[in-house]
Amino acid sequence: MSETMTALFGGTGPDWTARQVPVPRPGPGQIVVCARANALNNADASMLAAADPTRGGTGREYQAGYEFAGEVAAVGEDVRSLAVGERVMGTTPGSFAQYVLVDHRHVMPVPDELAYEEACALPTGLLTEHGALMAGDFRAGRSVLITGATSSIGLIGVQVAKALGASQVIATTRSAGKRDLLTGTGADTVVVTGEQDLTQAVLDATGGEGVDVTVDHVGGATFAACLPATRVDGSVVNVGRLDTAASTIDLDALSYRHLRLAGVSFGFTRPAELGAVIASAARDLLAPVADGRVRPLIDGTYTFETADQAVARLRSHQAHGKLVLTVP
Ligand SMILES: NC(=O)c1ccc[n+]([C@@H]2O[C@H](COP(=O)([O-])OP(=O)(O)OC[C@H]3O[C@@H](n4cnc5c(N)ncnc54)[C@H](OP(=O)(O)O)[C@@H]3O)[C@@H](O)[C@H]2O)c1
Repeated sequence: MSETMTALFGGTGPDWTARQVPVPRPGPGQIVVCARANALNNADASMLAAADPTRGGTGREYQAGYEFAGEVAAVGEDVRSLAVGERVMGTTPGSFAQYVLVDHRHVMPVPDELAYEEACALPTGLLTEHGALMAGDFRAGRSVLITGATSSIGLIGVQVAKALGASQVIATTRSAGKRDLLTGTGADTVVVTGEQDLTQAVLDATGGEGVDVTVDHVGGATFAACLPATRVDGSVVNVGRLDTAASTIDLDALSYRHLRLAGVSFGFTRPAELGAVIASAARDLLAPVADGRVRPLIDGTYTFETADQAVARLRSHQAHGKLVLTVP
């Protein structure tokens, strides 16, 4: 490995700045990955905005990025489960760099069938959607409602639920124009919330019972509408707040239906627990990823030099799927 590398830093202005920094060395429990591709997440735009000193941000500089894929370049002396040269994908702060320092539990193998540009766009979706379904006590044969299903991770969620044997997947979008995207991804029923009442549409599609598990990416009034759309003894798991974080819910719907409510936010999960979530997702999902049942939708691929265009596309909220950076 060379001594220095290129990495993208936030906190310097509205966009990232490329810097030369020392290549990290792995400590106990860590590995260093030679990154080949990175993927953007909404958190990257929020972090840039919060740190942007030109618009009242903190001006605190940080190495940007979360998702990556590449080959293991070095392992900590106590790491036995991974070897130099293995293809891995994972998530860790500071991934927009030529070499990524990461806890060895926070990566999963990349199936041979997958290019790095696809692999880098999967870890957040796989671990979040699998983790949310498990938090909702999902098992094969159960039905699932996924709100905000055209989001990058929602699209993965639809595929994951189908691959794990969901009896029925109902997916929501605000726009009728995205119906085909969702049916193409595997949704059995699409509810267009701009035209249909969410609760009624789900009850109609489930013989009046509601779904077993709801995975909600929207929050606000949508979260409230999910409760009476979930069957007695079912679960509602909040993953995202694409609309708003505040929601007024009907406690009668909660109590009379004996619902379990859960929330997941894997960016705030302790390292060992996150390792277990990733290991569980890898166990269940690497086969469906390898055979093509679970694949990311890529909106566009950029380079470190054109990263400003990638983040502009992220901020536009027009992207269909993930934005990828190839690593120099
Ligand atoms: N819990 C976790 O660990 C975790 C991890 C990653 C992400 N997240 C959260 O999950 C959510 C999805 O993330 P993402 O990066 O996949 O999102 P994304 O790709 O940026 O989502 C874009 C989609 O969101 C929908 N949308 C946007 N604003 C909306 C609104 N006001 N109401 C309803 N739908 C709206 C749009 O769908 P339509 O136009 O089709 O309606 C659009 O296609 C975010 O809230 C993110 O913060 C949570």
